Order: sequence, then structure tokens, then C-alpha cells
Amino acid sequence: MAKATLGLHAASTVSDTSLVIREALALDADAISSLLIRSFANDLAGEHSPEFTLRMVELWTPEHVGRLLTNRYTLVACLGDQVVGAASLYENSIRMVAVRSDHHRRGVGTALMRRLIARAASTIPVLTVQSTLLAERFYGKLGFVKQQEHCVDGQRYIIMQLMLRGSWQSGMYEGS
Ligand SMILES: CC(C)(COP(=O)(O)OP(=O)(O)OC[C@H]1O[C@@H](n2cnc3c(N)ncnc32)[C@H](O)[C@@H]1OP(=O)(O)O)[C@@H](O)C(=O)NCCC(=O)NCCS
Repeated sequence: MAKATLGLHAASTVSDTSLVIREALALDADAISSLLIRSFANDLAGEHSPEFTLRMVELWTPEHVGRLLTNRYTLVACLGDQVVGAASLYENSIRMVAVRSDHHRRGVGTALMRRLIARAASTIPVLTVQSTLLAERFYGKLGFVKQQEHCVDGQRYIIMQLMLRGSWQSGMYEGS
């Protein structure tokens, strides 16, 4: 019998029987740090200045991640004993989203986000993300709507929001 899939992609999709999404533990800080550092150093290097990339690589140490794990709801996606993705919810915003590049476009990011959205849905009316340029289509496919572009430290980002309760009103975005 064919394995069930996450339902997004064809042949290369990670099967949902092998991908485990679970809450991050303190001992995942090393793996999450490594994911984020690789993301900045490789996947996002094209959209950030070398100086910003270096600062991010220096910032996202296991100790820094470990501190953040204590104040935000964080999920990891695991294949066997490997952490291949992570995503966090901090108040009304999505943070620390990264998938290992050798597992991109296989539904891992979507699986993480669906779990975070389900968690947020009962308490948060509008979820906000400061999306990288690379991830705009990813969030768009999940239903997030572009609100505005902005710059942080000279780097371009896209503020996107997902309405979980109620309906859109003009001028809804007030920053987060
Ligand atoms: C953004 C990211 C988390 C997506 O993870 P992923 O597991 O590859 O995403 P999925 O496989 O679930 O993608 C779902 C859909 O999103 C869109 N998408 C994902 N990555 C994309 C890309 N690089 N370019 C265009 N569309 C993309 C596609 O529509 C994709 O569906 P498809 O493959 O059927 O076309 C991953 O590319 C990543 O780690 N990027 C670097 C870090 C980053 O930018 N994080 C966001 C911080 S706000």
C-alpha cells in the first residue's frame, strides 16, 4: 500500500509516517542553531548583505536559541534522529522558521506551519510574519496576505498576515 503523504508534492514528498513534528526540547538548541546558521549562510545569503549575514551567523548560537526556547512555542520536524526543520510562535508572530536545504520543497515547512497555525487559532485573531523575500510564496500558499515591505538593518522583508478569526478591515496592520 502506498504511504500517505503530506499531500502537497508528488514523488519527493516526505511521507507523513516518517516525519515527526514535536515540541522542541532544550536539547534541540544545537540542531536549531545549526539550521538557522545554515539558512542565513546559504539560503538567504543572496538577499542579505555579507555584514548582516555574518551578524546573524554570530547571533544564532545554541545558547541564544536555548534562551529563546524558554519563551516561545517552538516545533521541530524530525526525520529519524535528525532535526530537519523548526518554527516558532511568539505572541502573535511566527519566528525562527527554517528547513534544512536538502529537504526543501517536500512539505516540511508546510507541516510545521500547519501545526503552529492550529495552535494559534484558538487564541490569536491575526498571525503576523516578517517574511524573507524567499519565503513570500511559501507563506502566501498558507493563506498569509502581504501587508507591506519594510527594511530592518537595511535588509528587505515582507510583513504578511493570516486572519484566523473575524474578517479583514482596511489598515489592519499596525506592526507587531
Ligand atoms: C521557506 C522555507 C521554510 C520553506 O520550507 P519548505 O519545507 O521547503 O516548504 P514546503 O515544501 O512546505 O513548500 C510549500 C510551498 O511553498 C512554496 N515555496 C517553498 N519554497 C519556495 C521557494 N524557495 N520559492 C518559491 N516558492 C516556494 C511553494 O509553493 C511550495 O509548494 P511546491 O513545492 O508544491 O511548489 C525554506 O525554504 C527555508 O528554510 N528557507 C530559508 C529560511 C527562510 O527564509 N525562512 C523564513 C523566515 S520568515
